[in-house]
Amino acid sequence: MPDMDAKHQAQSQDRGFDIPRHVAIIMDGNGRWAAARGLPRGEGHRRGVEALRRTVRAAGEAGIQYLTIFSFSTENWSRPVAEVNDLMGLLRRFVRNDLADLHQKNVRVRVIGEREGLSTDIARLLAEAEDLTRGNTGLTLVVAFNYGARQELARAARRMCEAVKRGELDPSSVDVETVGRFLDAPDIPDPDLVIRTSGEKRLSNFLLWQSAYSELVFVETNWPDFDQATLESVLSEFGRRERRFGGLVAQTGS
Ligand code: FPP
Repeated sequence: MPDMDAKHQAQSQDRGFDIPRHVAIIMDGNGRWAAARGLPRGEGHRRGVEALRRTVRAAGEAGIQYLTIFSFSTENWSRPVAEVNDLMGLLRRFVRNDLADLHQKNVRVRVIGEREGLSTDIARLLAEAEDLTRGNTGLTLVVAFNYGARQELARAARRMCEAVKRGELDPSSVDVETVGRFLDAPDIPDPDLVIRTSGEKRLSNFLLWQSAYSELVFVETNWPDFDQATLESVLSEFGRRERRFGGLVAQTGS
């Protein structure tokens, strides 16, 4: 049994409920965290990266196998240029400073989102993070970068059309499973749990297809304050939910 499966099982047993295998997070409230302290928004994003480091560690310890983070949305380009540059700078620094550490911790990095149109150095860093950690067997960190769910579905539709054109796909055979195969990371299971911080209660174009049966948990905490204790309380809330996947009987989801 792979390490992560064993850890997931042990943690689930300890807590008396099935730990989510895949947790996805909308890291919101960096700007409000900074404004409340009279600090520039960039400081909120910087503290957001620290919260991200804590959360990757805490997720691994809790036996979570996949952690997806919404780090830059297709809509974020509409922010002031200085803030966009700030976020790009943070990604550069995150990859440069943290990649070796993530690799050493056996974390596998995956990236979803549109690569086209990204500056060459950013695209190269994302590819480097994926290549270096390809063989790792610990937590999978899925970075949603330049990501929008509708755009991902449009990409999937385009890929399907191309496969039809090549004669590799019969349009009459297209079903839910087929669509799933053409998404950005088809091998990654759907999130069991989607968390949004800062009290906002929306999905904002995040994993719309994959979250069809996810439990949604909204917490008031702004992202820079998110820590292991917040994650633990969200996991307890998840443990109290009954997952029925449209049926009548509660299922464990694993
Ligand atoms: C939302 O806060 C957060 C973002 C738009 C970006 C999230 C980015 C990070 C946590 C740091 C970057 C990490 C990487 C790896 C690039 P907000 O600015 O929307 O906050 P507000 O709603 O309070 O204004």
